[in-house]
Amino acid sequence: MDMIKVCDTADVKPGEMLAIEMDELPPVAVYNVDGEFYATSNICTHAIAILTEGYFEGDTVECALHGGCFNVRTGEATEFPCEEPLETFEVQVSDGAVFVRAP
Ligand code: FES
Repeated sequence: MDMIKVCDTADVKPGEMLAIEMDELPPVAVYNVDGEFYATSNICTHAIAILTEGYFEGDTVECALHGGCFNVRTGEATEFPCEEPLETFEVQVSDGAVFVRAP
């Protein structure tokens, strides 16, 4: 599948995350971990919550609803009550833009 431009690198500074809403993609969160970009589903696997409305530190996103956590590099659930991993998406950075591979 195609790589889709979702934002500019300047839109997501180190330590920040950004919600992406595009017709071509499911809801995606883009994260900047010390200059490395990652992308996961933006929907918590525990219930229905938007991860970018929670907290992001290091390589961990914490859901605002019940405090579950995920590793944004791997999608692994790292804190109860989250147990199902998050879907992750391949990311490429080119010419100051962030691209995500459509599932
Ligand atoms: S909905 Fe995210 S931890 Fe419960």
